[in-house]
Amino acid sequence: MQTYTGKLAVLYQGEGDRQLSQALADRLAVPLYASVAHDCPESFFLSWREGCLKLLDKELLKKGGLVVDIAPRNGEQRSWPAPKQDALAQALGRKTKTIIDATTGWGQDSLHIFRMGYNLLCIERSPVMAELLSDGFNRLLAEDWMQTLKLQPPQLLRGNAIELLQALDAPPDCIYLDPMFPPKRKKSALAKKSMVVLRELLGDDQDKELLFEAALQATARRVVVKNPDYAEPLGGKPSESYQGKLLRYDVYLKN
Ligand SMILES: C[S@@+](CC[C@H](N)C(=O)[O-])C[C@H]1O[C@@H](n2cnc3c(N)ncnc32)[C@H](O)[C@@H]1O
Repeated sequence: MQTYTGKLAVLYQGEGDRQLSQALADRLAVPLYASVAHDCPESFFLSWREGCLKLLDKELLKKGGLVVDIAPRNGEQRSWPAPKQDALAQALGRKTKTIIDATTGWGQDSLHIFRMGYNLLCIERSPVMAELLSDGFNRLLAEDWMQTLKLQPPQLLRGNAIELLQALDAPPDCIYLDPMFPPKRKKSALAKKSMVVLRELLGDDQDKELLFEAALQATARRVVVKNPDYAEPLGGKPSESYQGKLLRYDVYLKN
């Protein structure tokens, strides 16, 4: 179990139920604060604000915070299922129905995949990210369009995908991987704040080669890896590649 001692605290500032904040702090084995003292050792905070669970660093304390954003991305159609027409959909494959996102993170790729109508299972090993995802998926469930269409949010499995993929009941058509790669430069002006904070909180995913091997074993048809465009392919020469903006989807087909 990852420990967040001295790194993370839960902040309860009067919004919502204090017991929920206490239970969250207990689950993560971190302190619960009513305010942030200037000399407090923690650099990250979880707090319920405006009805969402938010992750904050010291810079974000006054500004707001980061949430699992459940709104469709720019340019994405709001109908359900959204058309499968972009580079990600091509990489996932025309015949694919069932997908596991083994590196769910902020859930942005997962939610895009879900909105295209695939049958999706999500895995996340960081307990903090899993709490944020669970809050996001609960908000998704409450959306009018989800209620009208009687849809359930994707199921979320908490834990290391390298182990969980070995214990699946049935292999999915596709396993999707987006592990954390080292940045090209130390500080990139282009990096999104959510990804900067994620990297500071969790570090790079050092075991991504093992994850790739586990995914290749566990999938029925294909593994798709999202890479920054400067990164070497994770599993050697891919069967196919699709170019996105500053990124590449490498596809490994299983024989
Ligand atoms: C770059 S982020 C993924 C971002 C995500 N695609 C999105 O759209 O928000 C990588 C995430 O994968 C998770 N992760 C990496 N290796 C994992 C593993 N072996 N099992 C489960 N989660 C893993 C990390 O904890 C991190 O949250």
